[in-house]
Amino acid sequence: MNAAVYKGTALVTGASSGIGATYADRLAQRGHNLVLVARDEKRLRELAARLGTQYGVKIDVLRADLTSKEDVRTVEKRLREDEAIELLVNNAGIGPKGPLLNDDPDYLDTMIDLNVVAVNRLAVAAAQVFAERGRGAIINIASVVALVPERFNGTYNASKAFVLNLTQAINAEVADKGVKVQAVLPGLTRTEIFERAGVSSSRFDPSMVMDVTDMVDAALAGFDQGELITIPSLPDPRDWQAFFEARMVLAPNLSHDRPAERYGVRRAEAV
Ligand SMILES: NC(=O)c1ccc[n+]([C@@H]2O[C@H](COP(=O)([O-])OP(=O)(O)OC[C@H]3O[C@@H](n4cnc5c(N)ncnc54)[C@H](OP(=O)(O)O)[C@@H]3O)[C@@H](O)[C@H]2O)c1
Repeated sequence: MNAAVYKGTALVTGASSGIGATYADRLAQRGHNLVLVARDEKRLRELAARLGTQYGVKIDVLRADLTSKEDVRTVEKRLREDEAIELLVNNAGIGPKGPLLNDDPDYLDTMIDLNVVAVNRLAVAAAQVFAERGRGAIINIASVVALVPERFNGTYNASKAFVLNLTQAINAEVADKGVKVQAVLPGLTRTEIFERAGVSSSRFDPSMVMDVTDMVDAALAGFDQGELITIPSLPDPRDWQAFFEARMVLAPNLSHDRPAERYGVRRAEAV
């Protein structure tokens, strides 16, 4: 399904910088009215004013701290009640301060509140209302670390694996209900995320870091092409397909009435 069919309002979380701000720009350019969500209201208002003037679309700002249950409920209410909203870009997230062994457990809790709890709440709300209306789309921003958990902070990787898994599961429930779902798996992307977490991005190999506009333009092209999973830097989509098919090989053997032979467990005698 081509994204051009969705002309309704897009609600973008984490719209004050980086990937979210770039989605806001590209979606405004495509003619979407917008609801911009983040904590920094001043930045959101400046972006809204610029995009409104440049593209002539209507833009609302909804200040919310998505680690606060109350603020998440406010955004959820807007998603459920504003029938003009046809697209959710579930993007707000924070990255790790370093390897898990050095990270602050309270910070990791906050990461889960934002990257998992809020993302889940908004994705579920959008899936429910869009399915009921028979129309809408959800773009969830995951990460390639969902596929290579050995290479980065475990809590962050797990939060992004959650987003990938959630997207695939939601798709299985809504695909036949007029709702389009996409998980975007960016690799390293030039935004504020690393500096915000106190990590210098200068230590990354520049050949692995994508410009944010290229990343979002590729992700939107993947959306237009109807992809469920978009990995902007992956040259050959057959590699993803092979990974998916390898997983499906396991499926018929994941739940049986007895343990596998190699565990040497004798079947319990009937009593
Ligand atoms: N950059 C990368 O290399 C990369 C790679 C893979 C995936 N991602 C994912 O892409 C998404 C966007 O990250 P980015 O790279 O664009 O980083 P960014 O430039 O730091 O942007 C993060 C956005 O999230 C918002 N945010 C942070 N904490 C929030 C909170 N408590 N409540 C509401 N909004 C909050 C920030 O706005 P305020 O501070 O105004 O609230 C900002 O708009 C994240 O989910 C990230 O995990 C990034």
